[in-house]
Amino acid sequence: MTAPQRILTVFGTRPEAIKLFPLIHVLEADARFDSRVCVSAQHRGMLDQVLEISGVVPHHDLDLMTPDQTLDALTARLLTGLGAVMDEERPDWVVVQGDTATAMAGAMAAYYRKIRVAHVEAGLRSGNIYHPWPEEVNRKVIGAIAALHCAPTETAAEALRRENVAPSTVHVTGNTVIDALHWITGRIAREPNLAGGLANLEARFAGKRIIGVTSHRRENFGGGMEAIAQAVRTLAARPDAAVIFPVHLNPNVRQVMNEALGGLENVALIEPLDYPHFARLLDMSTLMLTDSGGVQEEAPALGKPVLVMRETTERPEGVIAGTARLVGTDAERIVAEATRLLDDPDAYSAMARAHNPFGDGRSAGRIAELLAAA
Ligand code: UD1
Ligand code: UDP
Repeated sequence: MTAPQRILTVFGTRPEAIKLFPLIHVLEADARFDSRVCVSAQHRGMLDQVLEISGVVPHHDLDLMTPDQTLDALTARLLTGLGAVMDEERPDWVVVQGDTATAMAGAMAAYYRKIRVAHVEAGLRSGNIYHPWPEEVNRKVIGAIAALHCAPTETAAEALRRENVAPSTVHVTGNTVIDALHWITGRIAREPNLAGGLANLEARFAGKRIIGVTSHRRENFGGGMEAIAQAVRTLAARPDAAVIFPVHLNPNVRQVMNEALGGLENVALIEPLDYPHFARLLDMSTLMLTDSGGVQEEAPALGKPVLVMRETTERPEGVIAGTARLVGTDAERIVAEATRLLDDPDAYSAMARAHNPFGDGRSAGRIAELLAAA
């Protein structure tokens, strides 16, 4: 019998954890793999929420988050910390996901050791290196290094081929976020208490339409965040709507949102929700306002219209399908688009179609087969 492939999965933030736990579950259950997990803890609290619900126990935890971390200091700590773990583990593959600093540094550290890199959610491109910033460059760096590119969609695969990535290394697997969403909704169906903590807000906002909001992008800090806050404030003045806004732990987000929205009757500014409660929020919301990548993928899968508060998106599939709309960070535009959805039932039902261009919930299994065959 051949020795199992040693796979070191590296991640550090909430969205990476959500999109990698389905793959780790599959790798752990398959004797063809020796699954090892290293978290940088680029995020601490928000990462731990996902580790806890998913049952993933890392073999290495670098615990390297610092308050209001800068990109260069974070990247320096990541490179040395992840490199040391790779020297100890000597894996056959390093798996990274998406476009965070942890993913980029993980790919670089692996490359410096000539360890093969598999990139989950490969090929997303906005075409603008400052939107999203710094993620567009992070994922291009990973794309230049990876030996296996797991593209969520054909659009993403085509973007890689246009960059002259060898077609034989590019595979359309779907996005593991849909695997994660299926897994969590299954858990909630069996254990409703896992997502029972929003009952107070449901009672407080009974009879109102819920607008779910998330925002955290670095390129929106400053003016963009203030405009988003202003738009939320205006929408919350409607007597028939209420906003539930789990606020990212980044201090640059919290300060703006607390100042602009704290104490408003129709706005619940709450701590980041764990994944089951966030899935519940998606379910109870009429629409989502977000600059998040993952939420752009999850909301259409649940038939919830998404207004994307960004200038560009690397996820055109939802926009093309008509379930997401790019509205930028101009307060008036955000308010106008949200108002249209709230006041025009035809406009709303045109967007509120469950549509899932991002995957069928079986992406992790496909990625494992690709790793086994490579
Ligand atoms: C990072 C990723 C971004 C991803 C986002 C997901 C990079 C460059 N950016 O955002 O791609 O979309 O995570 O949320 O990798 N903080 C806490 N506790 C936490 C998490 C964050 O206190 O659990 C605070 C800390 O003060 C930390 C700050 O938020 O320094 C920023 O965290 P960081 O990971 O650097 O955030 P972003 O770069 O904004
Ligand atoms: N999410 C969560 N709790 C929250 C907000 C978001 O669990 O309070 C989940 C959400 O379901 C999605 C992911 O976090 O899967 C998105 O993370 P984030 O917006 O931080 O990062 P991005 O996707 O933009 O990289």
